[in-house]
Amino acid sequence: MRLFGFELGREKDLCLAELSSVLGEKNLVEHIYDIAIFDLDNKENGNHIKNIQTLQDNLGGTIKIIEIVETIDAKTDIATATQTQNKIEQFILSYFEKYFKDRYGKIPFCISTYNLKNTHTLNIKQLLNFSKKILKSLHLNSRFLNKGLENPKSSAIYKSGTIEKGIDLNIIKGSKSIFIGKTSAIQNIDDYSLRDFNRPCRDMQTGMLPPKLAQIMINLTLGNTHEPKTIYDPFCGTGVILMEALLMNHLAIGSDVEAKMIEYSKKNCEWMIKQLNTQKQHELKLFQKDARLLTKKDLPEKIDAVVTESYLGPLLTFEPNQETMDKIFRELSNLHLNWLKAIKPLISQNTKILLCLPAYKTKNSIKTPAVGGLPSFSRERAERANSIIHFPKFSEIASEAGFQTLKIFSYGRKEQIVGRDLVILKNI
Ligand SMILES: C[S@@+](CC[C@H](N)C(=O)[O-])C[C@H]1O[C@@H](n2cnc3c(N)ncnc32)[C@H](O)[C@@H]1O
Repeated sequence: MRLFGFELGREKDLCLAELSSVLGEKNLVEHIYDIAIFDLDNKENGNHIKNIQTLQDNLGGTIKIIEIVETIDAKTDIATATQTQNKIEQFILSYFEKYFKDRYGKIPFCISTYNLKNTHTLNIKQLLNFSKKILKSLHLNSRFLNKGLENPKSSAIYKSGTIEKGIDLNIIKGSKSIFIGKTSAIQNIDDYSLRDFNRPCRDMQTGMLPPKLAQIMINLTLGNTHEPKTIYDPFCGTGVILMEALLMNHLAIGSDVEAKMIEYSKKNCEWMIKQLNTQKQHELKLFQKDARLLTKKDLPEKIDAVVTESYLGPLLTFEPNQETMDKIFRELSNLHLNWLKAIKPLISQNTKILLCLPAYKTKNSIKTPAVGGLPSFSRERAERANSIIHFPKFSEIASEAGFQTLKIFSYGRKEQIVGRDLVILKNI
């Protein structure tokens, strides 16, 4: 067993699905709220996951990766609490003596705990003080990142260089064990914000797909892959998906109905390749085309995955009423039916497509859209959410075009009027 804990981003289901797709669902050992524990000691993963930071850099939905270095039996009753506390202190003592041997300077240090609140089994304050004492006995000054007993923010861990210079010690309570681990890699927030905000061409009208979400979309579609693949985005806009595909060493093909967007994608991808400062050849192909009119000569023989933030309708600054929503859904139904029909003969059977649909937040109670009843999956989810209107009957549209709907995930921020539903289809 080579266990690693992955701290999941905001949309837990989506982030866990990304991990299961990349690392293999069968390698999931345990999912505990914010953390998913995977065993990376297996043939598929063991050989190609050598660099944990590279893995982290390719996972849009993971905040940090924790290498599990000790597993302790988890007993929740108070009688064994002291025993558990002692075991963790013993671990800190022996691990720190090894880990910080020959170190000097100030050591940034913190403890992050998961699923331990309200169990009263551990005294974190005592553990923090104990750690400080051990570091002192090793003649090391420490700088604590914990404010009170709260977990430090991941941005604070990243900015303080804790992973390189110190340690972020994690204590995770699982169903049967307490996992202890040190953070080995953390989301590089500077790189993400560089790609998000400093790329040369941005366009408010086309919406702003976060690079992290583009990575998740690629990973959900391609799954566990070790070799470069060909990814096609037929609604490429400013090229965020293409940029992320190139960054993950894939071949990227993009098209858009607007010439301006092809120019934007070209500038952005070229800028990103320049940032990478490598000699490696990155393969990018761009062309202007209405996705509904795609033909065989537009695309190479083999497309491994189609990943796209397809057109989401006009930019809305107000909560849409029923009429506006129905109009957008009708327009998009036609667009999707037609481009899916056009692309079907150009891709092999079983090829996956991931596309985005708009989902509207509304304060009004749910009414059945005029374009027909909500399909069962949408109705269920809409009723549960009670304030989100999902695209009606999309799986029927997909089926008419010759695709099977495999999965749907929701993605949205609290303040957004229009969220996205990510739909994964398979060419049947
Ligand atoms: C939501 S934006 C995509 C934004 C993109 N993810 C990015 O990184 O900027 C949708 C894009 O679809 C394009 N579009 C709309 N209708 C289209 C069609 N029929 N065929 C191809 N592209 C189309 C728009 O020009 C727009 O650039």
